[in-house]
Amino acid sequence: MADPSDAFVLPRTGRTLRNRSVLAAMTNKQSHDDGTLSDEEIHWLTMRAQGGFGIVTTAAANVTETGRGWDGEMGVWGDHQLPGLTTMATELRSHGAVSLVQLFHGGMRAPQRINGVQPVSASINTEAGMDGSTRELTSDEVHGIVEDFAQAAARCELAGFDGVELHGAHSYLICQFLGKKTNRRTDEWGGSYDARKRFLWAIIDAVRAVTSPNFLVFVRISPLIEKMGIELEDSLRLAQDLATVDVDGLHISCWDVFQSVDDDDERLMTKRFADALPDGFPLISTGAVWSAHDAQFVLDEGADLVGVARVAIGHFDWANRVSDSAYDPQRQPFSAQHLATQGLSPVFIDYMRRWKNFVV
Ligand SMILES: Cc1cc2nc3c(=O)[nH]c(=O)nc-3n(C[C@H](O)[C@H](O)[C@H](O)COP(=O)(O)O)c2cc1C
Repeated sequence: MADPSDAFVLPRTGRTLRNRSVLAAMTNKQSHDDGTLSDEEIHWLTMRAQGGFGIVTTAAANVTETGRGWDGEMGVWGDHQLPGLTTMATELRSHGAVSLVQLFHGGMRAPQRINGVQPVSASINTEAGMDGSTRELTSDEVHGIVEDFAQAAARCELAGFDGVELHGAHSYLICQFLGKKTNRRTDEWGGSYDARKRFLWAIIDAVRAVTSPNFLVFVRISPLIEKMGIELEDSLRLAQDLATVDVDGLHISCWDVFQSVDDDDERLMTKRFADALPDGFPLISTGAVWSAHDAQFVLDEGADLVGVARVAIGHFDWANRVSDSAYDPQRQPFSAQHLATQGLSPVFIDYMRRWKNFVV
């Protein structure tokens, strides 16, 4: 069985990761209003590369100006963002991490207050906390957003990033197309399973068409979101289908890898995906990992790589230290002073106060 500190070779490209640890994408609100990166955002992520992560993923970064989900969001929609992106990519590489930009569009979670336009989605959708409802994208507009993803990926490659992670999780636009309840279209983009996955597939093809063969493309999904109509059976099928196209791996966002799934099958989420995927197709699993023991559990369940988020906010060098099988770092809550020593700016610390019991 693999150990968290073992190197891993990504099979499609032959690219070696120095270990099995992945810094999962984390929004940190530190970008400027025009989506350009701040020095603080570059600093916080660079520290995680110094801290030994095999893969460092950026915060969710928007591919269009009008798809933004929140203030302080990272953007990859314009060339004015290239200088900051280039600095970040250069820093991450110089510290030995493989770098991914997480590409997304908020869809129904892109409020009018921020974007000045009515939010769009696969269908007319609304949810708690949203003013009004979305407008259904026309087919031409869907093609346009696919192209926005491609241009954003090309920009990331130009900046020096090793790849992208397409954010198909957490109810954002790709997820809205995948969900049976949020995608009720009757054209080629909705209806059957094959039609609902077409938006993601079109993005993968478009990204591949404008980036070099060695550019990495990962896909992140949420296996199960009842209210969106994301069903486990479809997600397992999607995983298997992704393994047949030119992507480098699947990242499942479990929130809690130890939680059982509410059905008759005893296997936990990571194992279900590991069992469903063909041998050799990389699987990243993330959620509630804290100690070295937890990380080992995820690998023993069959994941190739283990993702972490919150523990790496409190411990920038988690990846370097997880090779010690007894490593069990201090749990949250953390003091603001401690978080500052871990490279968080006051803006980010303030944001973390919204996460239950994270900051003292
Ligand atoms: C502050 C914060 C910001 C996050 N932002 C993102 C994001 O931009 N994109 C994403 O896919 N997940 C995001 N997540 C979810 C994490 O990537 C991860 O899946 C989740 O926190 C569970 O892992 P953990 O238990 O190790 O924290 C965020 C989590 C946190 C704590």
